Amino acid sequence: MQKNAILITGAAGEIGQALLAELAAGGKSPLVTLDLQAMPAGAQPSQHVQGSVADATLLAGLAEQYRFAQIFHLAALLSTSAERKPALAHQVNVDASLLLLELAARQSMEGGQPVQVIFPSSIAVYGLPDLAAKATHAKVGEGDFNDPTTMYGCNKLAVEKLGAYYSNQYGQLQAEVLTRLDFRSLRFPGLISAHTAPTGGTSDYGPEMLHAAAQGQAYACFVRPDTTIPFMAMPDAVRALLGLAAAPAAALGRRAYNVGAFSLSAEAFAGQVQTAFPGAKISYAPNAARQGIVDSWPLDVDDRAARTDWGWAPEYDLQRCFDEYLVPNIRERYE
Ligand code: SER
Repeated sequence: MQKNAILITGAAGEIGQALLAELAAGGKSPLVTLDLQAMPAGAQPSQHVQGSVADATLLAGLAEQYRFAQIFHLAALLSTSAERKPALAHQVNVDASLLLLELAARQSMEGGQPVQVIFPSSIAVYGLPDLAAKATHAKVGEGDFNDPTTMYGCNKLAVEKLGAYYSNQYGQLQAEVLTRLDFRSLRFPGLISAHTAPTGGTSDYGPEMLHAAAQGQAYACFVRPDTTIPFMAMPDAVRALLGLAAAPAAALGRRAYNVGAFSLSAEAFAGQVQTAFPGAKISYAPNAARQGIVDSWPLDVDDRAARTDWGWAPEYDLQRCFDEYLVPNIRERYE
């Protein structure tokens, strides 16, 4: 007999740790986590499975044990890591997602209830052709510039499409009516956490300069001072995941939503960091390839669909994010 549970893949990562804490605080259980890494001290899932999300045998074993009502599929190689190992990125970011979609499709049919699959997508699905286009299209809508320039962006867009297919058309040739899974995804801006530092992303220059300054270390930023993309505080990212998950299916007009909070340049980010940590030593040493990636990402996103369909609104604008979330928590972390 399978037990009902919630699955979180990539649970030891930045979003995973924050989401697990929130789900546990909300009394959600049982929570089954999967990650290549052990869970950090303090995180308390009902069961942690240490292994790869791309391991089909491992997933089949989990599906025998559990019936997942909800899957938060967070495991991924981020954009810089994916560029260094594109084939591995495809395996983890796409092939493993397909395994999970198959698992969720089967369990939806068997249980007669849609398994909900929640997926963090990214502004990396956008590919603005040049800085002039970036400047003139300040807030991109979900349908604009879907021309990613990175393996990671291609992977995220592919999984969005596969998720929509499994939700809407999967099994369309079969005579009987199937219960299909319910895939929902969010295109996140660069996320900033006070409690964890990112690895392998290309928006990492923001959080990296902040965490370096809080530890009294100098930081050489790998993009130009004028480089501008949207960012979001981690608590808002978790609220967005849970808000989208809680929305009634009938309210959702799409399966991939932009969510925005604030947008700022690397120079303005450095200014915030220097206000909080007056001794911070921040210099600029742009890396051409990583600069090219961030230049192809939009200045900001148009998130009106998320606001209208399921009531998205960030709690942290730029100033609250630094003053009330990042700076006090980071000080405490490194003290
Ligand atoms: N923050 C991610 C990255 O830099 C983009 O979603 O890869």
